[in-house]
Amino acid sequence: MVSTPSYDVIIIGGFGHVGLPLGIAFADSGLCVGLLDIDTGKRPMIEAGTMPFIEYDAEPILKRVIGKSLTVCDGLKEIASAKTIIITIGTPVDEYLSPKTRPFFELADRMAPYLSKDQCVILRSTVYPGTSQSLSDHWKKMGKDVQIAFCPERIVQGYAIRELKTLPQVVSGTSPQAISIASALFRKLGVEIIEVSMEEAELTKLFLNAWRYIQFAVGNQFYMMAKDRGLDYAKIYHAMTHHYDRGGIPGPGFAAGPCLLKDTMQLSAAYRNQFFIGHAAMMVNEGLPAFVIDKLLAECGSIAGKTIGILGMAFKKDIDDTRDSLSFKLLKILRFHGATVLVSDEFASDLSFVPSEKVLKEADIIIIGVPHTAYRTLKIPRGKHVIDLWGVIPFGSSTPS
Ligand SMILES: NC(=O)c1ccc[n+]([C@@H]2O[C@H](COP(=O)([O-])OP(=O)(O)OC[C@H]3O[C@@H](n4cnc5c(N)ncnc54)[C@H](O)[C@@H]3O)[C@@H](O)[C@H]2O)c1
Repeated sequence: MVSTPSYDVIIIGGFGHVGLPLGIAFADSGLCVGLLDIDTGKRPMIEAGTMPFIEYDAEPILKRVIGKSLTVCDGLKEIASAKTIIITIGTPVDEYLSPKTRPFFELADRMAPYLSKDQCVILRSTVYPGTSQSLSDHWKKMGKDVQIAFCPERIVQGYAIRELKTLPQVVSGTSPQAISIASALFRKLGVEIIEVSMEEAELTKLFLNAWRYIQFAVGNQFYMMAKDRGLDYAKIYHAMTHHYDRGGIPGPGFAAGPCLLKDTMQLSAAYRNQFFIGHAAMMVNEGLPAFVIDKLLAECGSIAGKTIGILGMAFKKDIDDTRDSLSFKLLKILRFHGATVLVSDEFASDLSFVPSEKVLKEADIIIIGVPHTAYRTLKIPRGKHVIDLWGVIPFGSSTPS
């Protein structure tokens, strides 16, 4: 007798920023979803219906589905009872900016004993080009003839619940059957399906992230050029973009986080490290904290012994994720120059963070690290020197009342 699968979907990496919202969205669409993750510390929160990180609109749905259509799996062996398995684990680059592919293949080895030919494995992590096919070949060599699809995640972190139901889903696979299984799954979310080959899908995702990273770099380099000439970039930016459709240049600001840089470097690694525009973007974006401090040193002379506050340690606005945030690079350089640095964030927490009120009161110089909405209404005491690349503080004033 053939046993019925217990799960429609099991998500490996299911407690993560991609895996958890996806699991919640599928569970909300009526599918029976299991979450599997090695970060067991998050399990009690998730099982209690609490999101372990900010993902807008997710928690009410989590509370509704947890323990019903969404459950936490106890171990990898449970994947044997899933129709489809989705992998959403991290795919970082190493200290030499080369893709770290080994964890992926180690996971594949551990999954192998529990896989069978009727199952479909969907890769959703952003991968180095060719990884999907290599994984398929790897399993084939082990005698595992599973269906494999690659369906990249394209949501913007923090807004996955909304975007999972609206963004067209790029679908690719090793066979028409894999494509058909993956397409049917994502159609449950009511989205349009775009079918491409696996390498086309891999490049689609990497090109999008590299493009975004390059766009930020252009905005940042223009900012630096204007500043070097002693000009007010906020005025230039307004002049470029106000009621001018072709002026869509991102504003200046720290462009970082766990995806854009590493995906640009994954793409470069696949192109013999000859992705010059990608590397140039990295030099501009990663150089911005030092540029800001150079300008500060030019204005103030030394900052040794001064108290400097950073408002915003998350890698982007209105979320609590500090992964690869450039505010930490800023902190490091400020300390190197002998400043006492107070750091604060509206959403992220850490024992070293202080309330923003303390920053406002005690810091001589305040740097906006990320444009959290809450900073728009800050009352900055008179006489403070404010560095606000983002233009968050009304009028970007350096001596607001
Ligand atoms: N964060 C985003 O907004 C975003 C958007 C699109 C694509 N991506 C891509 O999605 C992937 C995941 O990113 P993320 O931000 O969700 O990372 P994350 O670190 O938040 O989540 C990954 C999860 O995988 C778990 N994990 C790692 N190895 C595991 C294993 N062997 N078995 C079970 N669980 C394991 C981790 O504990 C973690 O919970 C990356 O490839 C990333 O580039 C991320």
